[in-house]
Amino acid sequence: MYKDKILRLLRSSPADFLSGEELARKTGISRTMVWKHIKSLEQEGFGIEAVPSQGYRILSEPDTLRKSDILQGLRTKFMGRTLHLHPAVASTNTLAMEMASLSSPEGSVVIAETQTAGKGRIGRTWISPKGNLYFSVVLKPNMQLQKAPLLTLMGAVAVASTVRTMLAQQAVIKWPNDVLIGQKKISGLLTEMSAEQDRIKYIVLGIGLNVNMDLVALPSDVRRNITTVAAETGKNIRRTPLLCQLLLDLEHWYRVFLEDEELVLSEWKKLNVTIGNRVTVRGLNDTLEGLAQGIDREGRLIITLDDGSVVHVASGDVTLKPVS
Ligand code: BTN
Repeated sequence: MYKDKILRLLRSSPADFLSGEELARKTGISRTMVWKHIKSLEQEGFGIEAVPSQGYRILSEPDTLRKSDILQGLRTKFMGRTLHLHPAVASTNTLAMEMASLSSPEGSVVIAETQTAGKGRIGRTWISPKGNLYFSVVLKPNMQLQKAPLLTLMGAVAVASTVRTMLAQQAVIKWPNDVLIGQKKISGLLTEMSAEQDRIKYIVLGIGLNVNMDLVALPSDVRRNITTVAAETGKNIRRTPLLCQLLLDLEHWYRVFLEDEELVLSEWKKLNVTIGNRVTVRGLNDTLEGLAQGIDREGRLIITLDDGSVVHVASGDVTLKPVS
């Protein structure tokens, strides 16, 4: 807490030195304690210039996520107001599911710098090196079980709109919830839930957004289809404001969803690049090919197969082939 206060003071006067005495007076602690907190900030990666008889000045900041910075930047009513930040976890989704079962409030967020067992869709692994955003949100909508996939579509709409407005990048959505720039994936979403009879008890919406990770760290076959915010914009982006905007967009679209899910579906349709294309959908056990006609009210992809039959697909991996 005192450390955060010192950091706030240093940030508020980036050009001038603040003496140890002044920092001590303004925070109400001793100069020795000020010095200890300065050392601890340096250990976190802050570059701090210390000049005898002048004091301290901040020179550079690491791109680490700090809980106090996130809470300060949040403009949401409930999304992210309960926040659990970890340097490393197995999977933020797994942790958020546990916390939801222990009655974490709606909008609680679990976020981690890295995941050691990040989960992707269809049982895959989500490789989670440092530099990106990995977080999961607890939601408790009062709704039917079969509508749950729509919440993932809602999440994809929120991610795409953050990327568009904040980073001026033409993000699009590939069914069901891959957010792409060009043909490359920048974000993936995974929902898990607990249900009772046909009602949802709670649902965890997990989001991975590739921000600053070094693409070279990935296996080359994975790298080919993936991009990051840094690769698209040509610069490293600070993750805290990005996260705060994303939580604000998520809150907005979640509220819209609760009011009228059709509005979310129609926004999803505007952003999607799947409908109208020939698609190959690889599921766990089978592969389908045909023309993607639309999505139904439960978020399933409607495909007309080559023999003329129409199927509604609930999950799978889509490859697009433009209609010639
Ligand atoms: C996909 O396969 O596209 C979904 C990827 C979802 C990854 C995110 S990262 C945060 C959250 N925790 C996980 O273990 N998975 C999701």
